Amino acid sequence: MIVATRTVAVVPSLLAGDLARLGEQLDQVKAAGCHWVSVDVMDGHFVPNLSFGPDLVKLAKKKGFYVDTHLMVTNPLDVAPWFVDAGSDIVTCHIEAVPDAAAALKKIKSLGTKAGLAIKPKTPVDGLIKSLEYCDLVLVMTVEPGFGGQKFMPDMMPKINALRRHIDAKNYKCWIQVDGGINDKNISQAAAAGADSLVAGSAIFAAKDPAAAFRELELKARAAFKPQQ
Ligand code: DX5
Repeated sequence: MIVATRTVAVVPSLLAGDLARLGEQLDQVKAAGCHWVSVDVMDGHFVPNLSFGPDLVKLAKKKGFYVDTHLMVTNPLDVAPWFVDAGSDIVTCHIEAVPDAAAALKKIKSLGTKAGLAIKPKTPVDGLIKSLEYCDLVLVMTVEPGFGGQKFMPDMMPKINALRRHIDAKNYKCWIQVDGGINDKNISQAAAAGADSLVAGSAIFAAKDPAAAFRELELKARAAFKPQQ
């Protein structure tokens, strides 16, 4: 069981995995010490792409991972039960897809799993801050959601600073996750801003040696993460 502590987690995103040998790639990162992976779910409406269903969560759980499911869908509360049933440890919905963030988080928790809230780059962080007390995880997107392999947006760091200040002030047990374009060049910046869960897809699975790439990212993130600011 992984709880929000004052450590930092590098979280491979399966969106960037090679579907022809994803099981082997998961074994590689697991051997490198990875315990937590992220499954990106896209419905072709909320974002202009289609990705995975609950079966990918089942595969990752069978491999022994802690799994967060990032719902980039228009109807997150309709599909959340499918991903909880598949074994998701955290289900994250987008604030832009729900009329009432607090109610959505409570609904996800009522399904028996942890609840996360995500925001797109153009969405102000205020809505996340207002709902922090109900969040087990907040996700700051550092790319426009929909595709892997995009460029990291450093101007999202003030959002992470603000969230870190509020979470520390209230001593909430809540992960600050960042997702989009994370690589060895920018992971220190994201961790130093206060993110403690760093999702990386291409930087890990497009690397010649995903295990080595994972270890390098983890080292850099741990060196840079400042829990109490
Ligand atoms: C965007 C996706 C990606 C993915 C990570 O909707 O959420 O951010 O997880 O992909 P990379 O690390 O390749 O940007």
